[in-house]
Amino acid sequence: MTAPKYRELAEMLRQQVSQAPIGAPAPSERQLAEETGVSRMTARRAIDELVKEGLLTREVGRGTFVARPTISVPLQLTSFTDDMRARGHVPSSRLLELADRPADARVAGVLGVEQGTPVTVLARVRMADGVPMAIERSSLRADRFPGLARYDFENESLYRVLSEDYGARFEAGEQVIRAGIVRDEDAEILEIPSGAPVLELVRVSVSRGEVVEWTTSTYPASRFELSARIAPVTVRGSELRSALRVRD
Ligand code: GLP
Repeated sequence: MTAPKYRELAEMLRQQVSQAPIGAPAPSERQLAEETGVSRMTARRAIDELVKEGLLTREVGRGTFVARPTISVPLQLTSFTDDMRARGHVPSSRLLELADRPADARVAGVLGVEQGTPVTVLARVRMADGVPMAIERSSLRADRFPGLARYDFENESLYRVLSEDYGARFEAGEQVIRAGIVRDEDAEILEIPSGAPVLELVRVSVSRGEVVEWTTSTYPASRFELSARIAPVTVRGSELRSALRVRD
């Protein structure tokens, strides 16, 4: 049996899309039907396939375009560099800020230090295959990691430096994930429209019993998804019902 027409057409489109730059317009149903001699319905099904696969994106009133890649990041105490490499992407960074500063009350509270204790502030644009994926703003304990501000964080992994050069051992962490709207200055850096949705991941990581890092990562919602491994938990039926808010 031969593959249905729309599948063949989808395969042809897939090849075209893989050569096209992100954001390039895809052919419309009408164009595709005219060029290939298939019905408009077949053309639509082929385009739908690529939209479902995340290769094309439909923008209401504008048309269909080559999508930016969506990257799936695990909820684990891993670094951006390792996460991207594990998914076959090439990580890179652009430095926005790197300086030592006295901790204000908020930073001091999170890191558990006296106000005024020196803290290294590191802000970077994190990229995957040259596409900006996130802005990361970190506050790190400068007393635990003196000299951090001298590193070249455009080419270095923060977690590599902390663990290999300073002997940090990340034994725990906590990550809060919240949805938001991009700040105007971040929209420009992330190359997304102003007002676009973002996900903010706020992480504190603990080494040798102390909070050493506080990082907020701002990801465009359109380029990013989170995945977590969920393990089975043994719970009594009544607990499960109340957890799921199921009434008897
Ligand atoms: C992740 C974490 C950040 C951490 C960063 C370090 O993105 N969410 O909290 O600071 O990794 O990344 P790297 O070691 O690549 O600099």
